[in-house]
Amino acid sequence: MADTPWLSIIGIGDDGLDGLSPVTRSVLNSAEIVFGGRRHLAALGDDAREHIEWLTPFAESVEILTRYQGRAVAVLATGDPMWFGAGSTLVRTIPLSEMRIIPAPSAFSLAAARLGWPLDEVDCLTVHGRPMESVLPFIVPGAKLLIYGHDGETPKKLAALLRERGFGDSDMIALSHLGGAEEAVCRATALNWAEAVPSLTTLAIACVAAADATILSTAPGLPDEAYLHDGQLTKREVRAATLAALAPLRNQLLWDVGAGCGSIGIEWCRAAKGARACAFESDPSRLDMIRANALALGVPDLDIVEGQAPDILTGRPGPDAIFIGGGLSADGMVDRCWAALKPGGRLVANAVTIEGEQRLAAAHQSLGGELIRLAISRAGPVGDFTGWRPLMPVTQLRVSKS
Ligand SMILES: C[S@@+](CC[C@H](N)C(=O)[O-])C[C@H]1O[C@@H](n2cnc3c(N)ncnc32)[C@H](O)[C@@H]1O
Repeated sequence: MADTPWLSIIGIGDDGLDGLSPVTRSVLNSAEIVFGGRRHLAALGDDAREHIEWLTPFAESVEILTRYQGRAVAVLATGDPMWFGAGSTLVRTIPLSEMRIIPAPSAFSLAAARLGWPLDEVDCLTVHGRPMESVLPFIVPGAKLLIYGHDGETPKKLAALLRERGFGDSDMIALSHLGGAEEAVCRATALNWAEAVPSLTTLAIACVAAADATILSTAPGLPDEAYLHDGQLTKREVRAATLAALAPLRNQLLWDVGAGCGSIGIEWCRAAKGARACAFESDPSRLDMIRANALALGVPDLDIVEGQAPDILTGRPGPDAIFIGGGLSADGMVDRCWAALKPGGRLVANAVTIEGEQRLAAAHQSLGGELIRLAISRAGPVGDFTGWRPLMPVTQLRVSKS
């Protein structure tokens, strides 16, 4: 056929070639060259064709693959190639019109079938090549998680994370080699987990919280105590209002300018799937604190950049939202942020000083938007009684770019 794509991405399970349908097998048989992991290529057995094993990093293999454009190439990938798989990466580089993707059941589907867990009630996650801490925002009472492992030590490390957070009573089920001859199940609570498992394992966790567990919602406005800080923290009530104005959306990018202890960028990332943030901070002593907060609150991919804004912002891809929490008095700060913001983007800036407020009033004049004042008081002991303790009032500019 003239319009047969040169590239076929074929999902294969732990049952190897036996699990492929006749149609899929004929697609595989018609390939001249086969790419895949060692395990996938081994499944081909005695095969005269050219086999090319994936390299680390994967990007190098993608580059090699593109050199074969126009030849009949098959890529073997585990399970569903479009679920944390090779297909997800390849569609970013190669046009869909040049490929066909043939999925096999994902390990998530196989695990859900074994456990009787409806997939629509489960968070499907991966720590394959990613920091463990990325699962933390999902560890909440009653949650069911399915997690692709990185290696045989993954369940032990996740058990330790669960115990640290007061989730030691959670039920953990390691499902190895699902669908293959060596399929095996290992089960224990996080408190009792000691086993290493085969590296091809999907871990199921039914989260159970102890009375003293750390339970943090993904809604903005975490308690101030959730952060390590040196006083440079946007307080809980103001933080919640600030995040509401920034309006985190799926896959969008935030610049947190003058990040302090990183709280705004961290809560932005927790609030929407795929949301990314870049924390700009000029004080080197705060960088470790931002990193520690990002890890502890489950956003290890927070991009932390040391330097003086606005100069440090130059040449970066434009963000969908910008928060200016510090450095408002630096020349050109608001103008340069505004210029970098994508159309449809939101700029939110907070000031607690009169000088900062003046900058916001000027920006409000030129850009429009809303200027608001947040005056929060918290009740606290006054001798034997209770009285209001005001926090510093915050002036906030909120403006959207059309
Ligand atoms: C990069 S992910 C690929 C997942 C694949 N796209 C899928 O849909 O199954 C690799 C991880 O998937 C999990 N996995 C894949 N096949 C599995 C199987 N047969 N049994 C258990 N876990 C499996 C393991 O956690 C492994 O480390």
